[in-house]
Amino acid sequence: MPLHDLSKLHSLAAELRDRAHAPYSGFTVGAALITTSKRVFSGCNVENLSYPEGVCAETSAISAMVAAGEASIVELVVLGGPKGGAPKPCAPCGGCRQRIFEFSTPETTVHFIGNGGELYARTIAELLPNAFS
Ligand code: THU
Repeated sequence: MPLHDLSKLHSLAAELRDRAHAPYSGFTVGAALITTSKRVFSGCNVENLSYPEGVCAETSAISAMVAAGEASIVELVVLGGPKGGAPKPCAPCGGCRQRIFEFSTPETTVHFIGNGGELYARTIAELLPNAFS
């Protein structure tokens, strides 16, 4: 995928962060992905007063993708951080890794800011080795 598309996914993930519903954690997350048929989907975290009912941004983007009839992720960008602030380290949670894996190819790549503060690009195989499949 050309680089300019990746920057488009970054902008979209940043835009989605602003729409997050995260009044309980104050940590807003946006996710944007592109499929093998070059369709783009995005999502944000949606929390709930009943805390376990909240959904992650990646899950929300995957739901939109599946609802549109798509099922194969090529690239996925995740951006998260304190509401209204700059993005901070936000690696996909374990549950989201399994959900991404469900709709992945061995080349599916996830872009996120790692715990060291740098932008990581990791294949789903790197993020979820020995996956349940
Ligand atoms: N969150 C995501 O949306 N994606 C992740 O991969 C990690 C965590 C959300 C869940 C919760 O709404 C907030 O970030 C704080 O954990």
